Amino acid sequence: MIDKELTVINNFLDSDSCNILKNTLRSIVIEDKNTPNIYYADLGFANGIDASKFFETGFFSSGDFEEVDTLLKNTILKIKNKVENFFGEKLDLFHFCYHIILPGGYQELHSDSTDLNGDPTGINGTHEPQEYSALLYLGESNKDYIGGELSFPNQKLRLSNKIGDLVIFRGNHEYPHEVYPVKKGIRDSIVLFFCKTENNKPISITNVVTKK
Ligand SMILES: [Fe+2]
Repeated sequence: MIDKELTVINNFLDSDSCNILKNTLRSIVIEDKNTPNIYYADLGFANGIDASKFFETGFFSSGDFEEVDTLLKNTILKIKNKVENFFGEKLDLFHFCYHIILPGGYQELHSDSTDLNGDPTGINGTHEPQEYSALLYLGESNKDYIGGELSFPNQKLRLSNKIGDLVIFRGNHEYPHEVYPVKKGIRDSIVLFFCKTENNKPISITNVVTKK
């Protein structure tokens, strides 16, 4: 544990499982139009209530992926339990995605639930319920890719990783983070966001601004 709201767990998922997930998920990514050299696949939904349905229905509807579907579901549940234990809160999965960064790709400094000053970034000034974050590495620094370190400047931390490592951290402005440019190879991860169960409410239709 690095501090009470940031921890790294080594070898959380075995390398065979990481490779199975990686090989399947790479086939369904789409390009992130806003960020060069980044591809992703949304595996949950923008509304936490819907994301929780994943556990009932599974993600892949095709029978071809049944084995991967079970592995993915078990992995997500295992991560959810770990995050709940670490923060001592009952949580809902809000959103999760598979994420790859190619050479030249990076992520600027940001926090997941607020802007860098701590102001809310959600609809109508409410906090988006990305209160807690987790990142599971499906590849390994200095083996599958060069560069791409995850940095938490406030905590003076710059992380390289082994395959299957899990990072858990608070999503607020005390834990801003960035990903340094990937120089070579492909950096694969699954990124998950959780909210307190009590805050997991459907976004009210009255909060949605529609164009006339
Ligand atoms: Fe982030």
